[in-house]
Amino acid sequence: MISYAYKINNRFIWLFVLLFSLAGSSGAMDNAAFLQQFTYNYEEQKFNDQLDLVRLNKPLIPGAVADLVKEAMSDEQSFEKRMQQLNIASAIAYMYLHWHENDSLVKQVTPLIQKELMQEQKRISEIMKWKKEERFLGNFVMKKHAEEMTQKGLPMVLYPHWLHRIMYECKVCHNSIFKMKRWENDLSRQRIEKGEQCGVCHNGVEAFAADEASNCKFCHVAGSPDAEHLHHPERVKQAQIKAAAESVGAQWRPENLPDGKLPLDRFQFIDWMKLKENDVFTPVASLEKDVVEEVRDNKILFASRSGFVNDVIFDHKIHSDWVNCATCHPAIFKDELGGNKMKMTDMSKGLYCGVCHGKVSFTFADCLRCHKKSTGKLSLDESRTTDALKRPTP
Ligand code: HEC
Ligand code: HEC
Ligand code: HEC
Ligand code: HEC
Ligand code: HEC
Ligand code: HEC
Repeated sequence: MISYAYKINNRFIWLFVLLFSLAGSSGAMDNAAFLQQFTYNYEEQKFNDQLDLVRLNKPLIPGAVADLVKEAMSDEQSFEKRMQQLNIASAIAYMYLHWHENDSLVKQVTPLIQKELMQEQKRISEIMKWKKEERFLGNFVMKKHAEEMTQKGLPMVLYPHWLHRIMYECKVCHNSIFKMKRWENDLSRQRIEKGEQCGVCHNGVEAFAADEASNCKFCHVAGSPDAEHLHHPERVKQAQIKAAAESVGAQWRPENLPDGKLPLDRFQFIDWMKLKENDVFTPVASLEKDVVEEVRDNKILFASRSGFVNDVIFDHKIHSDWVNCATCHPAIFKDELGGNKMKMTDMSKGLYCGVCHGKVSFTFADCLRCHKKSTGKLSLDESRTTDALKRPTP
């Protein structure tokens, strides 16, 4: 899109240049015309024409460069456009130095470029810093109120899904306490201290209290060395998890860990299915007592439409164990066999299965964990054929 618009733009400039060079014979050039011609020659890499322009228009060049720099540095300018304009200003400035032996323009433009590059570097490293902090699947940095936290000298908040998942099924929080979408819960200190959001539990009864001065550091920990144990579940003390789980009515049985170690998948994230198979943990399904869980006990076969990948099996039971029906239906999927047209490209953009997989549940890079049933076999599961639903191709 951009390059197309650019081409049209160039064509206009070209026309303009042509008209101007015809008119140019009769009158003097102004700053705008100089810049347009120079830019055209710069884009077209006509180096000699650029030099000629600088050689012949000495008096107006400082003004023209000032105009260009002013436009480049205006607040609404994008970084890309700004750098492009500063680069052109710099080219003019160096040619000006070369022909007219005056370095004032170079001295004016070069520091601006250096400053811009440094700021961009800072912006990128800021993004990378938070990316790094979220390297463990499901660890989210919360920093909508970054300014207030920085003012109070507090690090940003790090929310570890994995630690909470050991104790609670997804349905404890989604969607009653939190919408299953980042940045859409209006998280704030005030609401937490009123007993909402994290404060539903972090009240000194269910979990450590959010309004106690000695506890701030447990949540406000992103980017600090004290966050290390939240990125490396294998380093967390088993006894501590066991005690926390038991205190909320959940179970953690480290003695069942295969080889005594936390099972990790090939991406070094926790393999929750293996934990379940080995009966290592039993999370609670609700903060209320005597809640009857709604579970749908069947499997759905997504027959592959491509000869290259295996069929996908979706296990309703495993999913409805963790997640409420209402979280998936109808917001993510219509509850109709074959009713949803899903494509991998949509999923990798965060739709359908991609609402959870790749964000909190295992990632898409693990193709075979979903595409695990070789094609052409109709019976889904030898032992439970009656429960098997083969999905009509939508
Ligand atoms: C203790 C509460 C809690 C539990 C349990 C929990 N979550 Fe979350 N979840 C959150 C919070 C908090 C957020 C972030 C909300 C925000 O940023 O506004 C969130 C966000 C999400 C998101 C949004 C991600 C995005 O990029 O938009 C997904 C998906 C999600 N959770 C999936 C799950 C799944 C799957 C489970 C169970 C395996 C689960 N959660 C268990 C608290 C919880
Ligand atoms: C459903 C209840 C529940 C909700 C909601 C909840 N937590 Fe927790 N959280 C717990 C429990 C229980 C523990 C373990 C308590 C312990 O170790 O004493 C815990 C532990 C933590 C820890 C680990 C501290 C450490 O270093 O061991 C962090 C960080 C944390 N929660 C942050 C949050 C944040 C941020 C939110 C809100 C976005 C939140 N929690 C919402 C129940 C909850
Ligand atoms: C259970 C986790 C948790 C604990 C403990 C906690 N906070 Fe927070 N705090 C949060 C979350 C979540 C936010 C919202 C982060 C965001 O997205 O900006 C927040 C935000 C804040 C903000 C930003 C302003 C605002 O209105 O949201 C301040 C200031 C703050 N907390 C101070 C504290 C102090 C002081 C303590 C200790 C007395 C504390 N917090 C303990 C989770 C916690
Ligand atoms: C993790 C998301 C998820 C959860 C949770 C979930 N479903 Fe589904 N459900 C699906 C998907 C995916 C399909 C297949 C849709 C398709 O074929 O296009 C489906 C299909 C269905 C269908 C039609 C096929 C069938 O099984 O008869 C019904 C009815 C249904 N769901 C009901 C439920 C109920 C009731 C619950 C809660 C007990 C539930 N679902 C929980 C994802 C979910
Ligand atoms: C609302 C969240 C959510 C959605 C949407 C979702 N899943 Fe899952 N899925 C989970 C959770 C939680 C687990 C447990 C394992 C984990 O978190 O890594 C899981 C586990 C699985 C497993 C491993 C269990 C097994 O059957 O062997 C497969 C395969 C799977 N999902 C496929 C899918 C497919 C295919 C879709 C889309 C049709 C889908 N999931 C949509 C949350 C979700
Ligand atoms: C979380 C589960 C999941 C994972 C992981 C996954 N897929 Fe899929 N994939 C699906 C589902 C569901 C469909 C849709 C099947 C249908 O509707 O017929 C699908 C469809 C496809 C298709 C058919 C064409 C299309 O675009 O819909 C291809 C090809 C494919 N996947 C390749 C891959 C590859 C390669 C990987 C690994 C990089 C992968 N998938 C990982 C669930 C998954």
